[in-house]
Amino acid sequence: MCGIVGYIGTQTATDILVSGLERLEYRGYDSAGVATVLEGKLHCVRAKGKLYNLREKLEREVNPSQIGIGHTRWATHGKPEEHNAHPHRDSQQRVAVVQNGIIENHQELREELIDQGVEFASETDTEVIPHLIAQYLPETPGYDDFLIAVQKTIHRLKGSFAIAVLCADCPDELIVVRNQAPLIIGFGQGEFFCASDVTALVPHTHAVLSMENGEIARLTPLGVEIYDFSLNRLRKLPRTLDWTATTVEKQGFRHFMLKEIYEQPSVVRSCLETYLQPNWHAQTNADISPIDLGLASELCENVDYIQIVACGTSWNASMVGKYLLEQLAGIPTMVQYASEFRYAPAPMLPNTLTIGVTQSGETADTLAALEMEKQRKMGLESPYDARILGITNRPESTLAHMVDRIINTQAGIEIGVAATKSFTAQLMGFYFLALELAYRRKNLALDKLEGLIKGLRELPAQIELILEKQGQQIEELAHEFADTQDFIFLGRGINFPIALEGALKLKEISYIHAEGYPAGEMKHGPIALLDAKVPVVAIAMPGLVHDKVLSNAQEAKARDARLIGVTSIDDSEARSTFDDLLFVPHVDELLSPIIAVVPLQLLAYHIAARRGLDVDQPRNLAKSVTVE
Ligand code: F6R
Repeated sequence: MCGIVGYIGTQTATDILVSGLERLEYRGYDSAGVATVLEGKLHCVRAKGKLYNLREKLEREVNPSQIGIGHTRWATHGKPEEHNAHPHRDSQQRVAVVQNGIIENHQELREELIDQGVEFASETDTEVIPHLIAQYLPETPGYDDFLIAVQKTIHRLKGSFAIAVLCADCPDELIVVRNQAPLIIGFGQGEFFCASDVTALVPHTHAVLSMENGEIARLTPLGVEIYDFSLNRLRKLPRTLDWTATTVEKQGFRHFMLKEIYEQPSVVRSCLETYLQPNWHAQTNADISPIDLGLASELCENVDYIQIVACGTSWNASMVGKYLLEQLAGIPTMVQYASEFRYAPAPMLPNTLTIGVTQSGETADTLAALEMEKQRKMGLESPYDARILGITNRPESTLAHMVDRIINTQAGIEIGVAATKSFTAQLMGFYFLALELAYRRKNLALDKLEGLIKGLRELPAQIELILEKQGQQIEELAHEFADTQDFIFLGRGINFPIALEGALKLKEISYIHAEGYPAGEMKHGPIALLDAKVPVVAIAMPGLVHDKVLSNAQEAKARDARLIGVTSIDDSEARSTFDDLLFVPHVDELLSPIIAVVPLQLLAYHIAARRGLDVDQPRNLAKSVTVE
């Protein structure tokens, strides 16, 4: 949600900034801008819309500046117009600022500044920052004056934000601040970078430092100094990333989303290699757990309840997790929307393990809910009450720093705004957690456990089969729905959350209205929506609720709905019930969500691609939602 980038060094700043913004564009794409210092003056170029508009403008000029900041915006305050695009400047054009986050007290500060005669050029919350910094800056600033002016300003700001600041009078300094929004510093040879995400840094350096909340950094051509908000110097060392720049390339796929759908077999394989004991057999290895998540026993012992907080797709994955934790490990589990939990937390129950699930590791609501839970649990006597676990594919994220332990779901960075491989990987995280807890609590017969592990090991090849065999058929089917306006997705039991996920994927990238429902609930209301124009996708995997789903599908068919079935049963009943069949390999019902979601991802992708939409950057969305 908004991406910021900064550079100081020996190369042309705008080149570095624009290539960094390209890699951050998934965070917001309403408008973009860069500011540099050229011959003692700020030089700012901004453009409404996608980054290519900014790139076009920059191509028309020569700008050799070696210091600059850049921004790609996801509008919060003020429409996505050029005058609201970052960087924002003070009236004298001495200070330029890019910000990711929200300044909560901006209105109050704006009024104060207006009373003092300041004229505002935008409707954004950010613009108060350069005006304030400029007020604290002496006419002719000495060495520390710029740093001090920024420090004084941030003491006036309320909210969650990361900022990068340039000053025309201090052409060798870039000041950056982190307060509840991500910011990473990159260390090169005589050049230094900052960005909202490591993706913008990997082409230039693998030596990075994730700033902590409450830190200010001064980047100069000579190095990086880190301070706390009282300007006490802190000693910190960068760490080395093990990423390659190609991790964030499309590698021949038309969209990142498609590439990421096709990466799922290797992500699942990597999870299996990381967390399963090789050659485990129930008979010979009964006294060791087949799963090794590296969880300390304090995290897994005496767990009477589990509460999970998450948003969006991660919430859907958590609903599958709830099913697994309850049915396999026997632990009552609540799944809460983080944004709701923040203002109405459930009463605390003893011996509760709290889990935060987030692919970005930066979602403001999820982090705030976990922080609140940390505070609530502080001071409780039993250590079993204070534990918090994270499930994420971003081990360098804020989440990872704030919880006791994470399960790294091995999906790596995901660029497509619609989550696909990160969802499958979160499901894998829940399988391992549920099975590990089930083993420790002796809640599951060992032969059942062994059977499920065998089934997990078969998943990568089975997903490959779907991608190989169904890709073409789903693409052709998708073409028939390019003009459809509504879709219903039905599932029951462990596949109800997959119906939600199928609907979410479709609506967010194709802008088609879609609803996910527990199949048995359809007759209690949504059935009124059905007619020949509303296709119904039913997830009818064999198992406990298979026949029930088929009956519910029949109810839809009786209302003329076109029925699409996701199933592994190819028999006359399936063929006569469904108008279109999306066959998937046969798996244990408990493993079926991971198989059933793949055709739904492909369906959503191909419908959106057919409609000619920007699949990787759907309107109004951002990959990492760092505002409330
Ligand atoms: C949908 C999607 C969003 C995210 C949600 C939470 O495809 O990606 O619904 O799941 O914004 O994000 P994370 O998982 O980063 O906390």
